[in-house]
Amino acid sequence: MSSIKLDNLTKKYGEIDVIKGVNIEIKSGEFVVIVGPSGCGKSTMLRMIAGLEKITNGNVLIDGKVVNDIEPAKRDVAMVFQSYALYPHLSVFENIAFGLKIAKLNKDLIKTKVSQVASALELSDQLNKLPKQLSGGQRQRVAIARAMVREPKVFLFDEPLSNLDAGLRVNTRIELAKLHQSISATMVYVTHDQVEALTLAEKIVVLNEGVVEQYGTPMELYFKPVNKFIAGFIGSPKMNFIDAKVVEVNKKGCKLNILDKVIDSYFSFQNVKCDQGLSLGIRPENLTVVSQRDCLFNGSVEIIEYLGEYNLIYIRIPQQELLCIKVDIKLSFNVSDDVCLGAQSENIHVFNEDGLSIYE
Ligand SMILES: Nc1ncnc2c1ncn2[C@@H]1O[C@H](COP(=O)(O)OP(=O)(O)OP(=O)(O)O)[C@@H](O)[C@H]1O
Ligand SMILES: [Mg+2]
Repeated sequence: MSSIKLDNLTKKYGEIDVIKGVNIEIKSGEFVVIVGPSGCGKSTMLRMIAGLEKITNGNVLIDGKVVNDIEPAKRDVAMVFQSYALYPHLSVFENIAFGLKIAKLNKDLIKTKVSQVASALELSDQLNKLPKQLSGGQRQRVAIARAMVREPKVFLFDEPLSNLDAGLRVNTRIELAKLHQSISATMVYVTHDQVEALTLAEKIVVLNEGVVEQYGTPMELYFKPVNKFIAGFIGSPKMNFIDAKVVEVNKKGCKLNILDKVIDSYFSFQNVKCDQGLSLGIRPENLTVVSQRDCLFNGSVEIIEYLGEYNLIYIRIPQQELLCIKVDIKLSFNVSDDVCLGAQSENIHVFNEDGLSIYE
């Protein structure tokens, strides 16, 4: 187990700033997930922790010690990539044992360690096969086993499950969660998958163009996104945004004009001024079809997606992007139906003109 600290970590490729002064502390034994749009610098950050990428400025500290100039093999860090990078001519056993052989462990100890790890990852029956004789999921497990067997202080995963089919992703995700519970190693994990991020992470880093937008628990990011970017990035389907304008502020709260209609009730938003433009964020699971009395705005049904467990209804409202609502399968809708939409005020996120959250 080891703590990791990124202290003003910066990476430039020529004149291009890729990582722009990242400060993050990862506690010993924590499972931290890094998410962010393609090209935002996730892999670069991971590779700098591993020592595979030169640091332009700032420091990487492992257990309080600056490791900038320590070569990858001596950092006690194991990295698992999206492409399994197995040695094709070596058997599964030899692939898993590779690092231990290099470290000159004795044969019996290597055998014991490999069989323990193989059993944990359900690879015991595959040890004599070559990588080409395995399925994608099995190969990925060999790559994970090869990292595990070294018992590193830190595991770094760069989208390790993205080549697997849906079912295997779920199984391997659960294996990883179990692995983390059983060995309580520090893990840093990059993914594009919302579900993986929310289920595996104790903390999530949201990176955007080389800058950390928010670092917190999955619940903090989901319920208290600090800005519109985070609000739109965390959660699937993504949060709906609707423009509004403050038309009155007094002791009771503020009144809003939404889509050219002044709503006849007060909202308890703080720190807003009359005439101020706002963006209201409402998640698909919180936007509901309501009676005329509770209506915030009207729209018409444009697309219906039947997903079995629930349906997603996409609603056209004037001059805004299509809104998405998640509805019970028992509710029936038809394309072109007119609907009134509303939400509980505690489920409405509010952002100012700069996209920053305003909380009550
Ligand atoms: N060797 C390199 N030389 C120049 N630019 C690079 C190099 N490696 C990465 N970059 C640039 O750095 C930026 C970040 O790349 P990185 O691979 O870290 O992104 P990422 O967040 O992992 O993206 P993805 O989700 O697509 O894997 C990109 O704009 C990329 O083009
Ligand atoms: Mg990447």
